[in-house]
Amino acid sequence: MEIIKYTFSPHGDERGQLVAIEALKDLPFEFKRVYYIYDTKDGVRRGFHAHYDLEQILICVSGSCKIHLDNGFETQEVLLDKPYEGLYIANNMWREMYDFTKDAVLLVIASRPYDELDYIRNYDDFIKMVKENK
Ligand code: TYD
Repeated sequence: MEIIKYTFSPHGDERGQLVAIEALKDLPFEFKRVYYIYDTKDGVRRGFHAHYDLEQILICVSGSCKIHLDNGFETQEVLLDKPYEGLYIANNMWREMYDFTKDAVLLVIASRPYDELDYIRNYDDFIKMVKENK
């Protein structure tokens, strides 16, 4: 499975760092939504879904967490621990997020507004769909 990560260029100076992300310049898609996950309790694993039609970039802007990716054929674990690095996830990818450090803030930039109908929340349905589409 190909893991696509974007490395953003921080505007660093003696004051510290600043990362700016512009649609279609720093990322390949327009985005319609941003959300972030923080204060994740010990041992929590979340996500457990795929999307029919959604592109996302995940950036752990503070602390670290791990992402389990599963395309129905292969799985991969990705560590996110740099505030200037974004993991790209497109359609039809099952994801789970775990091992959040206490200070973890996982920022997600998404190509579309929230739509519960775009979620595949049943793993067996997900596997069926990717195998049928192959
Ligand atoms: P949930 O899908 O359980 O998060 P995760 O996939 O990370 O486990 O989302 C938690 C709640 O937040 C749920 O009630 C739906 C809501 N939510 C929104 O309202 N908008 C959003 O963009 C997202 C991602 C979730």
